[in-house]
Amino acid sequence: MQNIKLTIDHAYGFVSKTSIENYKDIANQSNRALHEGTGKGSDFLGWVNLPSSIDDAHLTDIENTAAILRENCEVVVVIGIGGSYLGAKAVIDALSNSFDWLQTDRKSPAVVYAGQNISEDYLYELQELLKTKKFGIISISKSGTTTEPALAFRLLRTQLEQQQGKTAAQKLIVTVTDKERGALRTLAVQEGYKTYVLEDDIGGRYSVLSPVGLLPIAVAGFDIRKLVQGAVSMEQLCGLDTPFENNPAAQYAAVRNELYKSGKKIEILVNYHPKLHFVSEWWKQLYGESEGKDHVGIFPAAVDFTTDLHSMGQWIQEGERTIFETVISVQESNHTVLVPKDAANLDGLNFLAGKRVDEVNKMAELGTLLAHVDGGVPNLKIELPRLNEYYLGQLLYFFEKACGISGYILGVNPFDQPGVEAYKKNMFALLGKPGFEEETKAIRLRTKQ
Ligand code: PA5
Repeated sequence: MQNIKLTIDHAYGFVSKTSIENYKDIANQSNRALHEGTGKGSDFLGWVNLPSSIDDAHLTDIENTAAILRENCEVVVVIGIGGSYLGAKAVIDALSNSFDWLQTDRKSPAVVYAGQNISEDYLYELQELLKTKKFGIISISKSGTTTEPALAFRLLRTQLEQQQGKTAAQKLIVTVTDKERGALRTLAVQEGYKTYVLEDDIGGRYSVLSPVGLLPIAVAGFDIRKLVQGAVSMEQLCGLDTPFENNPAAQYAAVRNELYKSGKKIEILVNYHPKLHFVSEWWKQLYGESEGKDHVGIFPAAVDFTTDLHSMGQWIQEGERTIFETVISVQESNHTVLVPKDAANLDGLNFLAGKRVDEVNKMAELGTLLAHVDGGVPNLKIELPRLNEYYLGQLLYFFEKACGISGYILGVNPFDQPGVEAYKKNMFALLGKPGFEEETKAIRLRTKQ
C-alpha cells in the first residue's frame, strides 16, 4: 500500500521554505501536546489513538449490527447533525456509485439522512418515501439533546412503530450516544435499543472512526476494516517519532498557518470528482468549528471542479487575493472510459480520441492549478492513489491530526464550539422552551413581538 501525499511546492513563492521550516518546533510541540494531553481542550483527545485502539471484537460487533439492518431494510435513515452524520456521508458518498439511488439490483440498503435540518418539506417527503419501504433507523447524538435529530427521531420512530409494530421496530433502531447522559440515552435504555457509546473524550467532528461513522458505513456495504487500517497507518505516519519534514499533518498545519499570517484568510478545498463533495463538507465542519473562534481562523470553503470552474472559477482566478487552495487529487480512477473517434468530427474532439476521460480531467486539474498559481493563489495538493476505504481512512485521520496541530499553532482550543450555542438559546426562547423565560422576554423587547 502507498500513502496519500501532501505537496506544498506551489505555496512557495507566496511563503518561503525557511518560513515553513521555522514552524518545526511549534508544530512538534503541538503534536506532542495532542499525544500527552497538555494543550487546550485536553479532555477531548480520545480520537488521537482511536484507530490503533479499535479491536477485532468491536469491528465484528458493528458488522453484526450492520448485517441485521442490511438483511431487514431497503432504506436505513441515519439521524444526526454536524459531526454525527457528516463523516459517514462523506465516506459513503465517496465510495458509492454516483447513481446509487437509481440502481435496481441493490446489494445494500439505501442510506438516507435526517435530523440535519428542520425543513418540513424534507421531512414530509422522507416520510412519504418511507411509507412503502422496509426501513431502519440509526439515531446518533453525542449529547442526546440536539433539537434537529431529536425531532426527526420522534417523527420517524413513531412512523416505524406504526408501520412495523413496536416489537419489530425495536430491532430496527440502533442508537449511538453518550454512555450515561442525555435524552437519547434515556430513551434507548427504556426502549431496549441496541446502543453504541460515543466516548466522552471524542468530540462529534472527530468521531468518524467511532461507531458514529463506522456503523452507517458498514450498513452501506463498505469495508470498515480497511478504513480503520488506513487510519492506523496515518496515525503512525503522523506520530511523535516522525520528524517534522516527513509528517504530512505537521507540514499541512504549518503551511496553512503561514499562509494565513500572510493574508490568505480563506482556504478552498478543491476536488475533481463530485462524489467527494461531502468529504469537503466534513472538512469544512472539522476546520470551521475547530479554528473559527476568538475572532481568528481561516474560513474553510469548498468547490467541486470542473463544475465550479464555470461559476466560482472567475472569482478564484481574479477576485480578492485572500485565498489559497488545497486540491484533493485522485491519481487513478476506478473505471476506464475512452473517448471514441468520430468520422465526422463535428464537435472537433478527435484530438482526444483514444484518451481516457480521466486524462482530460487531469489536464484540467494541472491547467487550473498553474493558472490559479499564476493568478496569485497558492496551491497545496493532497494525492490519493485511488478512491477506496484504505486511502479515505488515511485522508480522514490526516485531516484530523493536522486540524489539532493547526489549532494549537493558531492558539485556539480546537475541541470546543461555544459559538454554536448562540442560535440555540434564541431558538429555544422563541419557541417557549421551559427554562428560557428570561431570554424570551429579552427577545420580545428586541424584536417588538
Ligand atoms: O462537532 C461537534 O461537536 C458538533 O458538530 C456536533 O457533532 C453536532 O452539534 C451534533 O451534536 P450531537 O451529536 O450532540 O447531537
